[in-house]
Amino acid sequence: MAGTNRRWLLETRPQGMIKDTDFRLDEGPIPEPGEGEFLVRVTDLSFDPTQRGWLAADTYLPAVKIGAPVRAGAVGQVIKSNHPGFQPGQMVQGTFGWQEYVITKGMTETGPVAPVRKGITPEQALGVFGVTGLTAWFGLTDVGQPKAGDTVLVSGAAGATGSVVVQVAKALGCKVIGIAGGPDKCRWVTEVAGADYCIDYKRENVAAAIKAHAPKGVNVVFENVGGDILEAALMNLALRARIVLCGGISSYNAEDLSQMQGLRSYMQLTVMRARMEGFIILDYAPRWAEGVAALSKLIAEGKLKTLEDVQHGFENCPATLRRLFEGKNLGKQLLKLTAPPLPVV
Ligand SMILES: NC(=O)c1ccc[n+]([C@@H]2O[C@H](COP(=O)([O-])OP(=O)(O)OC[C@H]3O[C@@H](n4cnc5c(N)ncnc54)[C@H](OP(=O)(O)O)[C@@H]3O)[C@@H](O)[C@H]2O)c1
Repeated sequence: MAGTNRRWLLETRPQGMIKDTDFRLDEGPIPEPGEGEFLVRVTDLSFDPTQRGWLAADTYLPAVKIGAPVRAGAVGQVIKSNHPGFQPGQMVQGTFGWQEYVITKGMTETGPVAPVRKGITPEQALGVFGVTGLTAWFGLTDVGQPKAGDTVLVSGAAGATGSVVVQVAKALGCKVIGIAGGPDKCRWVTEVAGADYCIDYKRENVAAAIKAHAPKGVNVVFENVGGDILEAALMNLALRARIVLCGGISSYNAEDLSQMQGLRSYMQLTVMRARMEGFIILDYAPRWAEGVAALSKLIAEGKLKTLEDVQHGFENCPATLRRLFEGKNLGKQLLKLTAPPLPVV
């Protein structure tokens, strides 16, 4: 096919905050699909804090290789197909990476290419019905196991995952305290997402604010940030609290895992007979339909509002990833490359 394919390749493993020079913008011809393959034009890219870990080292997935396209979740449209299961015009979802066009046989690094469900937008496919919404749903309900009347503390509450956790916890009848950076984000967390209170960690003493709003302690902590914010949560646990260790973005720019801030207050787990448990959403893949059904129901009932932060232009991939670590995103961070070029099947 005539035309140019642009790809962002990993040039060097980032040290500290991501720089444009950690990547190289490569240009080449659009590839032709071979036997059993199909060509996808990427329309929307997902930006996730875990990409910082994938660039640095082997984690729950192997590190992105130097010279390879940066790994990323994406939605795209099938342009040409020699695969019986995929037709031109069809919208599909997979780990297509930072590239405008991709050839696939139907399997990507994190699982099979899946058709985008009829009636949902690419933003919803990558956000509330993608890894983000499912992380919020299964992390809260399966790992956190909140009961009506519990107090749930959510860090990163104005982010993609946290904003869904806040609303699911409210829908389950919990009292919810969010933590976010800045007055605008905190206003969204209380006024739109419906949290009972939002702590602005940039202005308030987090431990004192949790104590003021949850004097009997918190039953569930949904932890996205780690570091000092997790310490403040540990100092305010209720008996038999559950701490859902979803992520620890405050340490993702550390040089390596051994440089991450350690835990000081871990004996609170013993004192309060509490449980702290990590999880990786990919392990829930067999239950994704269940999570999508639950989230769809909450949206239909008006109990879950989605929030997307859409940037534009393939050349802005590194800057868009940086936004997550600069706290610039409100809700799910996405980058739109193009509208579907063919009529949608
Ligand atoms: N376990 C899993 O399977 C799984 C799956 C998906 C996501 N996650 C984790 O979930 C967390 C949230 O991910 P997301 O995709 O929803 O991202 P997000 O919350 O939409 O975006 C990141 C947010 O983190 C906050 N932040 C960044 N650096 C910070 C720092 N140094 N201290 C405090 N806050 C900081 C910023 O919000 P403020 O402006 O409020 O600071 C920023 O907007 C991440 O830790 C991610 O790794 C885990």
